[in-house]
Amino acid sequence: MSDDFVKLVEVGPRDGLQNEPYTVPTSLKLDLIDRLGATGLQVIESTSFVSDRAIPQMADAEDVIANLQRRPGIRYPALVPNERGYDRARSVGVDEVALFTAASEAFNRHNINCDIEESLRRFAPVVHRARAEGVRVRGYVSTVLGCPYQGEVPIADVVRVAEALFEAGCEEVSLGDTIGVGTPRKAGQLLHAVSQSIPMAQLAVHFHDTYGQALANIMTCLEMGVRVIDSSVAGLGGCPYARGATGNVASEDVVYMLEGMGLQTGIDLQELARVGDWIAGELGRPRSRAGQAVLKRH
Ligand code: HMG
Ligand code: MG
Repeated sequence: MSDDFVKLVEVGPRDGLQNEPYTVPTSLKLDLIDRLGATGLQVIESTSFVSDRAIPQMADAEDVIANLQRRPGIRYPALVPNERGYDRARSVGVDEVALFTAASEAFNRHNINCDIEESLRRFAPVVHRARAEGVRVRGYVSTVLGCPYQGEVPIADVVRVAEALFEAGCEEVSLGDTIGVGTPRKAGQLLHAVSQSIPMAQLAVHFHDTYGQALANIMTCLEMGVRVIDSSVAGLGGCPYARGATGNVASEDVVYMLEGMGLQTGIDLQELARVGDWIAGELGRPRSRAGQAVLKRH
């Protein structure tokens, strides 16, 4: 893949919707995934197979996957927290999963009710089975630039967890600024540290935009060579276990910036802006800045 190509991992249908206060109908989720699939996006994280008591919004994970109109060339990964989630995902044909843990013990305890070591132990059989079954595995490290419970998170803790996921067999490790507190220099220092042991091509960045720093952080990471960026259409989202955290950086804003830098994404920005406008209207959410501007221009 050329160094000018940046892969966006669209997390709107999962990270974007998981915190919506009212139940989003399965049909609307499917419509969103289908419309996103028409924009040129290559990876659309579609749902999560977690406890419906923990995340009621994702209780229809099987229905979402079973009724997806898969488009050729698009990958539809799903989050799984444990072997039970993996079984559920596989039962409806998921062929790519994402495991998730955190660099902060306190966050992990709230999010997945276990400590970091235990989460890694739970992942081992999942990775083992995924390998045998040809299922691609991504790993997330949350709270990489700050934790809602612990505050500062030492870089060494992030490196340790990212390495553990990579060594366990995750083909891509996504660094999550779950509460969007990071700033560019810190984001750069973190990426530098993690990339000492994990090749840059296998790292992704996942910035929430709570403090409006996401694009600046992404810019720093692009300059350092990262080429996989997680984002959410219309900037939807937030994590239920990270109070006050807003959505991911908006996919429209990211694509606009990348285009301006002469980088390729394969995504039709106008089409993406239309999807963002539509879903923001459906959910009563604000539009992305770039998305709105693009639609006004045309
Ligand atoms: P637990 O309570 O420790 O697990 O939950 P347990 O094994 O004791 O089971 C408790 C109940 O959950 C049982 O049901 C299990 O059957 C059920 P009961 O018998 O009490 O009725 N259960 C499940 N049900 C469905 N699917 C499963 C499953 N596993 C157990 N896979 C667990 C542990 C991880 C399940 C729970 O804490 C959970 O589901 N947490 C989900 C948290 C979550 O989804 N958070 C948001 C995603 S992470 C995120 O947004 C961050 C990210 O975007 C990156 C970033 O921004 O940093 C990725
Ligand atoms: Mg997230």
